[in-house]
Amino acid sequence: MNLYKYVSESINDKLGFSANLEVPRNREHGDFSTNAAMVMAKSVGKNPRALAEEILPKLRELDFISDVSVAGPGFINIKLRDDFICHSANEPHNIKTDSPLVIDMDYGSYNVAKSLHIGHLRTSIVGDTLNRIAKYIGHKTISYNHMGDWGRSMGLVIAWIKRNHPDWPFFQPDFNPDADYSKYAMSADELDTYYPAAAALAKSDEQFMDDARIITAELQRGHPGYNALYNVFLPVSMESMMKTVERLNIMPFDRNLGERNAAKYIEPVEKLLREKNLLVESDGAQVIVVKKDTDTAPMPPVMFYNSRGAVPYDATDIMALYYRKITDNPDKIIYLTDIRQKLHFEQLFRVAELTGLFPPENMEHIGYGTINGPDGRPFKTRDGNAAGLNDIIEMINTAVQKRVADSGKDLPVETIDAIALAALKFNDLMHDLRSDYIFDPDSVTSFEGRTGPYILYTAVRLNSILKRAGDTTNTEFRSENLTDEERNLLVATLDFERTVQSAFDNRATDLVANYAYDLCQSVNTFYHNCPILRDDVDDATRTHRLQIARIARDTLAATIDLMGLKIPDEM
Ligand code: ARG
Repeated sequence: MNLYKYVSESINDKLGFSANLEVPRNREHGDFSTNAAMVMAKSVGKNPRALAEEILPKLRELDFISDVSVAGPGFINIKLRDDFICHSANEPHNIKTDSPLVIDMDYGSYNVAKSLHIGHLRTSIVGDTLNRIAKYIGHKTISYNHMGDWGRSMGLVIAWIKRNHPDWPFFQPDFNPDADYSKYAMSADELDTYYPAAAALAKSDEQFMDDARIITAELQRGHPGYNALYNVFLPVSMESMMKTVERLNIMPFDRNLGERNAAKYIEPVEKLLREKNLLVESDGAQVIVVKKDTDTAPMPPVMFYNSRGAVPYDATDIMALYYRKITDNPDKIIYLTDIRQKLHFEQLFRVAELTGLFPPENMEHIGYGTINGPDGRPFKTRDGNAAGLNDIIEMINTAVQKRVADSGKDLPVETIDAIALAALKFNDLMHDLRSDYIFDPDSVTSFEGRTGPYILYTAVRLNSILKRAGDTTNTEFRSENLTDEERNLLVATLDFERTVQSAFDNRATDLVANYAYDLCQSVNTFYHNCPILRDDVDDATRTHRLQIARIARDTLAATIDLMGLKIPDEM
């Protein structure tokens, strides 16, 4: 049950007035409080406290309320009935929507022949959680790894290989497209070195840059040798991407289709643009003007063909829209990228509107902030490079290993991996995704405080209690005289649905992560104050508390699952 919604709506119905329900810090006097009297007092010109006293009897009529009282300048504290709390908490969570949407989710978006780095962390982790949340609510999502697999970087990589192996068949005039070239496949580690080397060279060597530009255009136009070579390194790159996806425990993408796939639709898209008179010639390039008279900020045109006839990044996104329209025909498209791509998406959404492909309200760009190092500048490795994703995972892994060893424990490798993953992902999820945050590899692995390991530790603790108790499925409650810790924990589990719904509505995954933390705090307070398996606990109390532990465990497990973390057997 979405307890907050239920209580809030019932009170508003009863009073015929829309008031704010709050969860007070100090829960001694109530599970909720409302400012209804204070708001109403203004409009009727009465004293808020007096009005609050008048409202109390009405609220007492609500069958789920056990007690109401006036506090401060006119707040009304509301205490719920124990049996109502128990009964509601015992119901399975259900927030399936009545109107499921088809949602294309574009996140991850890795680049071929460029290894994943810290910049891909948030799009992967937050994107995956957002996708899990949408699915949990019942929407049909289609996730896209919209790969950078068709642009200048491909030309640079091929130019680099050509420079180092001019004798390879791909570059010969008598190239045979039907032969098997798989023996030319390089290792993923070697492939990773090509792009940075080529990009560095292109900066100082104009000839090389020009070659790369020409190769890009020729690749896109179907040059057989370049395409055969591309097909040699593409699988190498894909395999290494998929390994990272697996390591991060993010769901496999429904479609690993990027710029190259999109580019297949150049003809119908160009036709569409021409029909609407949207393509304009500009310095040898073909562009789409998206500026509006009302614009105050600069709004450059969108490049469809550059002056070399190649299709740049901007254009491939238009074709990707076309592809999505004719395949998924989604109700919504959500893009999750670095905030620095904001303008690109503003332009794209205007093109979507101009072409009639999608109305602007069906398209959404979520721009996330930068991950900074302790110095407040973008996180770099010691050698000053953008940190590779695999290196970051290794670094966290080592930190976890050290902590575990220091504490004198000996945990299996899978457990260390699960803890490290939780440390990394939870830390990312708990921050407001639209802001920058500081990444401190050491603090994220702590077993205490707002960290992934703390969340897992709490889940392991609940599992272990339930296991020791034989995990019976007895669902009996004592249903009355809940202790404060018991009621706070049950009420916390009843905030799950509101949290997940609101995380989806606001595209705010931090709500889920921080909910997990709050829930764990309630679990641990309960654990320390309400003995369960101790000898002096009577049977009825034990059964009752085990049921609370079970509800808490199920809710926490569901929350952990939405974050794509794995609960180890022991910690
Ligand atoms: N591959 C791009 C990058 O690494 C992100 C692509 C985002 N998605 C899109 N449809 N443009 O920056």
